[in-house]
Amino acid sequence: MLLDQYAFGTLGERIVKVFSAVFRREDEVKFKEHISKSISKNSVGVYIHFPFCKSLCPACPYVRDIWQERMMKAYVSALKIEIGLVGEALKDLGLRVVDIHAGGGTPSLIDKEWGEVIQTVREHFDVSQDYRFGIEANPEDLTEDKAFQLRESGVDEVSIGIQSLFKTNLKMLGRRHGVEESLEAVEKCRDAGFKLINVDMMYMLPEQSIDSWIHDLKLASELGPDQITCYPLLVPHYTPFYKMIKEGRVQEQPNMKEFKRMYYAAVHTLTNEGYTPLRYYSFSRKSEEYSTVELEMVGPLLGFGSGAISFTGGYEYINTCSVKEYIKSVKRGRLPIAGGRNVAKEERAARYVAERLSALKLKIKDFEREFGEPFEALMKKSGYNVALRIGLLLGNLKREGDEIRVTEKGMWQRNLGGWAFVLSIPCRIVEEYTKTPWPIEVRVP
Ligand SMILES: C[S@@+](CC[C@H](N)C(=O)[O-])C[C@H]1O[C@@H](n2cnc3c(N)ncnc32)[C@H](O)[C@@H]1O
Ligand code: SF4
Repeated sequence: MLLDQYAFGTLGERIVKVFSAVFRREDEVKFKEHISKSISKNSVGVYIHFPFCKSLCPACPYVRDIWQERMMKAYVSALKIEIGLVGEALKDLGLRVVDIHAGGGTPSLIDKEWGEVIQTVREHFDVSQDYRFGIEANPEDLTEDKAFQLRESGVDEVSIGIQSLFKTNLKMLGRRHGVEESLEAVEKCRDAGFKLINVDMMYMLPEQSIDSWIHDLKLASELGPDQITCYPLLVPHYTPFYKMIKEGRVQEQPNMKEFKRMYYAAVHTLTNEGYTPLRYYSFSRKSEEYSTVELEMVGPLLGFGSGAISFTGGYEYINTCSVKEYIKSVKRGRLPIAGGRNVAKEERAARYVAERLSALKLKIKDFEREFGEPFEALMKKSGYNVALRIGLLLGNLKREGDEIRVTEKGMWQRNLGGWAFVLSIPCRIVEEYTKTPWPIEVRVP
């Protein structure tokens, strides 16, 4: 089996209907107008994309490129220029930055530069006193010196891509690090005093058994991270890994039945190890969360860097995925936006519900406060009411007073729906926008 966008049958098709989208290129004045008119709240999140890696993993679906020192330096300067351009365009809106995350690619390849970037954000935006700055990191970067240097540069939270504590899995995924480096990385991050440590683990790997997945999770929890996030290996067709499976160079993935068993094995193993599900795919020993999904889905989130996606609450837009074009554009004083689209209130409402249910609980009063409309009426207009009704009928969801909760049975449905969404929408956006730097129009899926 292959976990691609066609693996999810009718569930995938239903998701596609609610979230299909068309992005268009417009002139800069229009882009600025759309953004400033549609920001839904004063408190905003910031996402910074760092698209460089020391080597490119064949299954990686993200916007990334091979590391070159010279290019990285030009990129960091460009990031600072872009932050300034956007800050200037939005300066009259009284925005306050409440959260900053850097993803990639591999943000842990640099350290003091992050201090400079955050300083630039501070110069152009009002940054809340209790904001947190989190980055994604590769284990091999997190030596003692690096962990301390990152902490000194203002990084509060770290998400480490461990993936597996079995050498064979790491080799198959084309990872640069070994098991030892992952063990060291968690220890060094703890010594350096990060406020939150997440580790990413992967399942649905070719030749991976349920027992070895459970063993992997037990080992990961023995390391004592605050949070463990479980990713099934997705195989979009644009990744080299797809070709490797098709050509028989790598075995196919476990089947759907095993997918379900592996999923619940993660829920039960991690619960037994003292972790509570924060989302259908992430588990924590703390109440805080390393996550960017809430701001991505609900907004407002300002994205900086090549390939970054922003969502104001009413307008979604993506920066060019070409690093060279990105640098060229901002150096000329132009926003590097490649395409954007209006998001109607009904679609934002569906995104809000999908995001809340991914966190396993939706409070109807919160929804109505956010949208100023009765829940049932807006859900009907969004087309999401059918999915909710079916969920309640099948016992995947449970209504308790003002809350809709995802049941243990429903967590599996969420897991399927969530990854079907990722493959059909964000992965398809990346696929199209990495083909050419400035397409006129992009339709997803
Ligand atoms: C941008 S990467 C994290 C940072 C870092 N570059 C790394 O790889 O460790 C985010 C996470 O996505 C997950 N990931 C990578 N390739 C994936 C794929 N094909 N399907 C699902 N998740 C994937 C991994 O768990 C990875 O840690
Ligand atoms: S999985 Fe991480 S390290 Fe590998 S190419 Fe993707 S972003 Fe880079």
